[in-house]
Amino acid sequence: MQDDAKKRAAESALQFIQGASVVGLGTGSTAKFAIEAIAALIRDGARLKAVATSIATAALAGQLGIPLVDLNDVAEIDVTIDGADEIDPGFNMIKGGGGALTREKLVALASRKRVIIADESKLVDVLGRTRPLPVEVLPFSWRMSSRLLEKLGCKPILRQSREAAFVTDNGNYILDCECSPIREPRETERQIRLIPGVIESGLFVDIADIIVIGFQDRVEVRARPQ
Ligand code: 5RP
Repeated sequence: MQDDAKKRAAESALQFIQGASVVGLGTGSTAKFAIEAIAALIRDGARLKAVATSIATAALAGQLGIPLVDLNDVAEIDVTIDGADEIDPGFNMIKGGGGALTREKLVALASRKRVIIADESKLVDVLGRTRPLPVEVLPFSWRMSSRLLEKLGCKPILRQSREAAFVTDNGNYILDCECSPIREPRETERQIRLIPGVIESGLFVDIADIIVIGFQDRVEVRARPQ
């Protein structure tokens, strides 16, 4: 059922790629539906190139016949469609459940339009209630970064994968930080980014332009409040 809502949101988001030539492809189970729908458009003749936000997304896009281009080889991305872990009423988000937050943020920042797709379970009143905040850190100094995150009031846990530290596509670690509630995402983001060894945080502020929310029986398209 949740998959139906994700798919509904993903397919509805395709309206925003009309006229685009370069699209950003997000990461995760919701983004996967958008990638499959974009592949179908290309099979039907759409002339699109894509920038992937992770190795997994690049692999899926490659299998589906989507022509990929490196972020360094495009001046701009027309539109990026990606998922989210939590979205607050101001369109601030937590991302990085799949560990791709750094590339996701870079691709979003290189995009003229950022469309976020999600099922209704991702809507929250305040960030940090249902999910920890992922922070990508350098392995060399992860314990120091972790201690400094604790000083900000967070409880960081090193993300694991098969009993070893999870390693991102960039060769770094993820600290999943319980910092609930995140009432001032912009300020929290600023403080986290000042911590030595932090590569990127999963707080996405002023990034989502449009959110497309899939419900069991409908889709809602919302534009960011100005
Ligand atoms: C990956 C992400 C994903 O967009 C986020 O975790 C949502 O994933 P899903 O659509 O599977 O719930 O940020 O780093």
